[in-house]
Amino acid sequence: MDIVKKIRNLAKEKDAIILAHNYTRPEIQDIADFVGDSLELSRTASKLSSRIIVFCGVHFMAETAYILSPDKMVLLPDIHAGCPMADMISAAQLRELKKEHPGAKVVCYVNSSAEVKAESDICCTSANAVDIVNRLDSEEIIFVPDKYLGSYVSKVTGKKLILWDGYCPVHAMIKPEDILKLKNFHPDARVVVHPECPPEVIDLADAVKSTSGMLKYVKETDAEEFIIGTETGIIYRMEKENPGKKFYPVRQDFICADMKRLTLEKVLSSLEEEKHKVVVPEDIRLRALSSIERMLM
Ligand code: 13P
Ligand code: SF4
Repeated sequence: MDIVKKIRNLAKEKDAIILAHNYTRPEIQDIADFVGDSLELSRTASKLSSRIIVFCGVHFMAETAYILSPDKMVLLPDIHAGCPMADMISAAQLRELKKEHPGAKVVCYVNSSAEVKAESDICCTSANAVDIVNRLDSEEIIFVPDKYLGSYVSKVTGKKLILWDGYCPVHAMIKPEDILKLKNFHPDARVVVHPECPPEVIDLADAVKSTSGMLKYVKETDAEEFIIGTETGIIYRMEKENPGKKFYPVRQDFICADMKRLTLEKVLSSLEEEKHKVVVPEDIRLRALSSIERMLM
């Protein structure tokens, strides 16, 4: 029996649902029950009734699924699939920052640990960060850990944010020249970038969107060609859902090595051996849950 059949049979037998992020390998997206961005995956995880969730994404995403569904077994097929940006701030560092700004409300990007979420007032994803910050009426707002998403949100909302020096090493690689070079070859292409990109890259974009926001934009927009400023894994879904349209990655090496750790072999052994279970201590889970629930309200 081929590996895809084995995974699907085992998922059925064990009452498991497979969730995958838009950046995962094509074959992972193809075996998943649901593929989406961080916000969609959180919402889906909160509503599932299966016994097991196999999370094909990075650690903070599986952790978020567990925080929302502690009665389920949440499995991360590769326990080393992390997010370097999420590791750029610890709960202790955030507590220090809060001491310096005692009146500030804290917004944490979902790309953060459960401990950091537990120290925050409200969580956000790239899809809703602008709305979440707009919703807050505090004079002072701390935004962690992504300084680029934070500066984009600050620009759009007109609110001054206290930023942390975190960033995604993959998105930080893009330079404005990369986009300008491609624009020379494809002058009619729309430029769509993720808000984790540096500000000088965002300034060149026609649209700034979460990964699923990008998928919606390229489907609904009349243009035939798009320059895509995010991890190249997304191009697979774009091409599949939009035959005839052309998608150019800003860089061929725009790859999140952590997302690519998820392979079919690891998904199969994760299901067979029910590994690697992601759990969060209950006191931290409950505090992190409050900040995630405020976001989902
Ligand atoms: P999205 O929520 O837009 O899918 O982004 C997640 C992420 O990690 C981007 O690097
Ligand atoms: Fe983290 Fe960047 Fe990978 Fe997204 S692309 S999971 S922010 S390292």
